[in-house]
Amino acid sequence: MAAVVLQGITKRFPGTAGVTAIDGLDLEIKDGEFFALLGPSGCGKTTLLRTIAGLEAPTAGTIEIGGRDVTQLPPGRRDVAMVFQDYALYPHMTVEDNIAYPLKIKRVAKDKRRRLAAETGDSLQLAGTMERRPGQLSGGQQQRVALARAVAYRPNVFLFDEPLSNLDARLRLEARGFLKRLQRELGITTVYVTHDQSEALALADRMAVMEAGRIRQLGTPVEVFHRPANLFVASFIGSTPMNLLPARVEGRALAIGPARLPLPEGTAPHVHDGNEVVLGARPEYTALHPAEAKAAPAGGIAGRVAILEHLGTAYLVSVEAEVEGGDGVTVQATVPEGEAPAIGARVVATPDPARALLYRRGDGELVGAGAVTGAEAGAGTASAG
Ligand SMILES: Nc1ncnc2c1ncn2[C@@H]1O[C@H](COP(=O)(O)OP(=O)(O)O)[C@@H](O)[C@H]1O
Ligand SMILES: [Mg+2]
Repeated sequence: MAAVVLQGITKRFPGTAGVTAIDGLDLEIKDGEFFALLGPSGCGKTTLLRTIAGLEAPTAGTIEIGGRDVTQLPPGRRDVAMVFQDYALYPHMTVEDNIAYPLKIKRVAKDKRRRLAAETGDSLQLAGTMERRPGQLSGGQQQRVALARAVAYRPNVFLFDEPLSNLDARLRLEARGFLKRLQRELGITTVYVTHDQSEALALADRMAVMEAGRIRQLGTPVEVFHRPANLFVASFIGSTPMNLLPARVEGRALAIGPARLPLPEGTAPHVHDGNEVVLGARPEYTALHPAEAKAAPAGGIAGRVAILEHLGTAYLVSVEAEVEGGDGVTVQATVPEGEAPAIGARVVATPDPARALLYRRGDGELVGAGAVTGAEAGAGTASAG
């Protein structure tokens, strides 16, 4: 059992470009936690994971695992097991030998190695494949061999680098559920790297969103989804992109062209009349009404339906808003199937004020949020999950 504590970790790669892959990063991952590191390609996720594993030496900073400073220790003495994106299986070894190999390095006796490999293979549904070589396995089976190798080792910490990204979409969903259950059962501290926001939201107890070697937000998936701390996180999280609409504060209202929306309840006192801001509203929390209907709320964003995208049980509707200057503000809303308006129809889009998010123009920090985006946001979802 082990917490992972990173203090002031910097990793610079020398050379003409002189890349700073990790930039003074502090992070505490709790014992037994499933922790996701999420960020776009190139933000430093793999470098950070390899630094925790001991495969890279940090330029500055310290790493503690289970209360022990391991900064100077080689990988083999850190009690961590890593699963790589490409699985890194030994092609000339059988499945059994692949699973048992790290135990051999650790000088575990042969009988015990065989037993652990067999048990782990069984639990990961590899029983019929133990004598095969990796080349004779499907992608999903290879992925499970890589996982089995990590599990059989009984490490203090799992380090996973995009372990599902080479599986097709269907298999990835299955493997995701499987991985979550396995981690729950074993209770082993897990650091899981991914560029896929839906994977991080689905798997993690807590997560960090990274950009350019730094953490932009740390929190539970519910917090990060409902209350993104800045425009970077707001635009990165969500399976349909959040509407980010340039707006101006006018008294207690937000002006978006001719539209007037209420200022979110929890707006910082320093936000005042005339401030240029960005309103964040997820399509899922944006309502659409026909422009002529009596029910159309006053003050909403009027426009014409330009695109309909079928999402399965819903439609994503893109509305070209009628704002002065007319430089193409598009608002998206999801509507249930069967309720999609016609292309070209005139509609009014109204973001739910209780879910609205307000960001400062310039640095993009969160400066206001509606009533249900606080700690209680989706609390029901979290406890139900
Ligand atoms: N061995 C290396 N030498 C030089 N630059 C590297 C090396 N490894 C990674 N980088 C650079 O460090 C940054 C972070 O890379 P990486 O950790 O692989 O990102 P991610 O896993 O988030 O995609 C990138 O700019 C990458 O080009
Ligand atoms: Mg990577």
